[in-house]
Amino acid sequence: MAQLEQSAAPGSEWWRTAVIYQIYPRSFADASGDGIGDLPGITSRLDSLKELGVDAIWLSPFMTSPQRDAGYDVADYRDVDPLFGTLADFDEMLAQAHARGIRVIVDLVPNHSSDQHSWFQEALKAGSGSKERARYVFRDGRGENGELPPNNWESVFGGGMWERVTEADGTPGQWYLHIFDATQPDFDWTNEEVKEEFRSILRFWLDRGVDGFRVDVAHGMVKEAGLPDYAPVADADSMGGGEENVPYWGQDGVHDIYRDWHNVLAEYDGDRALCGEAWLPTLAQTALWVRPDEMHQTFNFPYLMTPWDAEKLRDVIRQSLDAFGGVGAPSTWVLSNHDVVRHASRLALTAENPQGEGIGPKSEGKPDPVVGLARGRAATTLMLALPGSAYLYQGEELGLPEAMDIPDEFRQDPTWFRTNGERYGRDGCRVPIPWQADAPAFGFNDTGASWLPQPAEWAQFARDVEEQDAASTLNLYKQLIRLRSEHGFGNGTLVWEDQGQDAVAFRRGDIHVVANLGAQPLELGEGVEFVVQSQPFDGTALPADTTAWFRKA
Ligand code: NOJ
Repeated sequence: MAQLEQSAAPGSEWWRTAVIYQIYPRSFADASGDGIGDLPGITSRLDSLKELGVDAIWLSPFMTSPQRDAGYDVADYRDVDPLFGTLADFDEMLAQAHARGIRVIVDLVPNHSSDQHSWFQEALKAGSGSKERARYVFRDGRGENGELPPNNWESVFGGGMWERVTEADGTPGQWYLHIFDATQPDFDWTNEEVKEEFRSILRFWLDRGVDGFRVDVAHGMVKEAGLPDYAPVADADSMGGGEENVPYWGQDGVHDIYRDWHNVLAEYDGDRALCGEAWLPTLAQTALWVRPDEMHQTFNFPYLMTPWDAEKLRDVIRQSLDAFGGVGAPSTWVLSNHDVVRHASRLALTAENPQGEGIGPKSEGKPDPVVGLARGRAATTLMLALPGSAYLYQGEELGLPEAMDIPDEFRQDPTWFRTNGERYGRDGCRVPIPWQADAPAFGFNDTGASWLPQPAEWAQFARDVEEQDAASTLNLYKQLIRLRSEHGFGNGTLVWEDQGQDAVAFRRGDIHVVANLGAQPLELGEGVEFVVQSQPFDGTALPADTTAWFRKA
């Protein structure tokens, strides 16, 4: 085995070690009863997050938006969409979170706006060559009459990456670039006005008291000069994680933007933080996002994408600690979010399922739910023993699986529409979460309305049921978060241990952590005193798909 000891990069800022809980506002708690979650709903449930023990919450977008991509299409960056409440509701939620010692990170979407944003509407009217069009990526088409798109790029959501506009005089005109849906035009980040506008948006939310930003598509904002043709690798993960040298992902110029923003945040007290959503093919590239003068965190997507395989997991953990440690940053571990199949299902898939594809009634390789849940719990028990920060996604603390049987007519992800149903997309991880087994919409609201249908079998995962069950996933998460904090696992040194090919094993101080990814029980030997087990078992043989923390006499 190579290096035996690996340490977290030193530093005492909160974000280096924090456990951060992602709230997907549409699906967390719905105070208005219209079937879509909202800010007052979040405020009403903060006590349950305090009990869970998380240090911070990250809210997916709640700003004004036509909701063509569930809020990742922002029409006004400085206001709250009426679906979610008002700015006053936001301030109240923030104050209540802070009163409980919970920090708040908001989502910033700087790669693109909604086509309903006033700037884009002005650009449509202003015409070719105008300063209004220069804020976005407008180009003339190819072909004799400009009838062909400016290049061959393909949208992450399927179809082409260009949309042709009709000019004010009614003739077919220029084309604009959209990495995502046609209703999400990309900004031109070489434009000074765009840069100034986003500094001002950052200050707007910092002045209100937010503790940081999760930066959407942080690897997409700058495109290669000349916009050269590029065809994506077949079956690649949709957000770019599996491809090298893509002209719209990971261009060097993005780093100047983050250096600039780093300085904006540094004007404020309290260690405000930027966390990048950057899907990049290697850890070495991912670590560039968190050099000392850039972002503070970036999601460790190579870790998230690692299958349930001991050797691959050991490698990715080792490389993560090296790569992030090498630039003085923490690794930001994550297993689930609103764009990937929930990890209590994903880790037991038996067929390829690239990120963004989703699972639906006709998918192949569906997971066994029992195996999935065991692996999901084991994976989290391992993750929360690692040095660095960790993000959790709402519902994973209940052990929620992916919702795999959403009827077609309820689907809302633009991926589903842009691929004509070829890819299910991400609705399956976005279903409103269950709070009470015997209540309308499982306590998501009191009307029973739900923007995506909740599977009937989710009653067993309801928070009130799990609160009563000592062996529930909820109680496991509570225990893990508390123990992680008590033992200071977010920081410090990890010493690798050898428990055979099928195990991931290391020591944190006097606590041994072993995950058994093999099919056979793993004998841990004499004198074992368990601290926590990802699922209950007797004796000292660690069952398959199980992680334990223990001391040895
Ligand atoms: C990444 C977000 O997480 C995803 O949900 C969204 O569709 C795209 N960026 C576009 O904003």
